[in-house]
Amino acid sequence: MRVLVLHGPNLNLLGEREPAVYGRATLEEIDTRLGERGRHLGAEVRTFQSNHEGALIDRLHAERRWADGVLFNPGALTHYAWSLRDAVAAVSLPCIEVHLSDVSKREPWRHVSVLADVRVALCAGRGLDSYLEALELLLEVAAGPERDADATVALLAERLAHPDERNVLARELAQIIRRSGRFRWVGLYDVGPDQVEVLGWAGPSAPTHPRFPVTQGLTAAAVTSGRPVVVQDVRGDPRHLPTLEGTRAEAIFPVSGGSRVTGTLDVESANAQAFTPERIRWLERCVEGLGGFWKTG
Ligand code: DQA
Repeated sequence: MRVLVLHGPNLNLLGEREPAVYGRATLEEIDTRLGERGRHLGAEVRTFQSNHEGALIDRLHAERRWADGVLFNPGALTHYAWSLRDAVAAVSLPCIEVHLSDVSKREPWRHVSVLADVRVALCAGRGLDSYLEALELLLEVAAGPERDADATVALLAERLAHPDERNVLARELAQIIRRSGRFRWVGLYDVGPDQVEVLGWAGPSAPTHPRFPVTQGLTAAAVTSGRPVVVQDVRGDPRHLPTLEGTRAEAIFPVSGGSRVTGTLDVESANAQAFTPERIRWLERCVEGLGGFWKTG
C-alpha cells in the first residue's frame, strides 16, 4: 500500500504555530512518525507540504498513479478551496481528511469542509495522533471488502441452508462476515427479554462479556430503537461496554423476529471512523441475509 500525505498552508510552522491549538510536534516529526508507522504496517509513505492550493493539486495529480490512498490536511483551504474537492474526486483515490485540531468545536467557518462528500472518513482533534490514526484507518478501509455484498449474502444463504447446532452455525456465519468484509471482530448475539448472549464470534479473542443484561451497552440502544447503532469512536461514548481490548469503532445491527428484536450483529474495528457509509451499507445487506438465522432459532 502506497500512501500520499498532503499538508496545506501554514502547517510548515507546526511546533511554533499556536501550540495550544496544534500541539508541539513539528511537521518533520509528523512526517517521520508517519514513515515509521507506515514501514511497521508494510506501507510506503510520501509526504508533501505547500502553502499554495495549485501546488497541492499538482502533487496529487503527479502521484495519482503511484498512490493507493491519500491523507489530506488542507489547513484553512479545507473551508473554501473547492478545487481541492474536485482534485480528490478526479483522481478517485480513497482520501482521509485529517486535522490536528477538532474543527467541529472551533469557529463556525471551520465547520465547512470542501472534502465532505469525497472523503472516506475524517480524523480530527488528536494532534499528531490524528495522522497516525488516519494512516491505520486508510490501510483498513482502502482495500475494500474481499467479497462484495451479493457474494457474501450468497455464502451466508448457502451456510444457512445446512442446519447445524446454533452456536456452530453462528460461529461460521461470523467468520464469513469477518473475512469477506475484512473486519477485526464479528459476533452474533441472541437477545432475550432480559439477557443478551453471544452465540458465535470470529476475531482475535472471545468477548469480555459473553452474557449481559439487555439494558446495557450500545446493544441496549440498538434493541430499544430497533435501529443500527454505529459509534465511530467508543472513547467518547459512556454507553460502550468493552467486548475486546483495542476496539475504537463499533456497530450493532438489530434483527427483529416479529414484534421484538431477537438478535444482533456486533462488528468492531481497532480504528476510529472505520464504519464508512459504504461499509455500513455492506453490513446492512449481510444483516438482511442473516435474518433467517434468528427466525429458525
Ligand atoms: C487545521 C484546521 C484548519 O481550520 C486550520 O486552518 C489549519 C489547521 C488542523 O489541522 O487542525 O491550518 O487543518
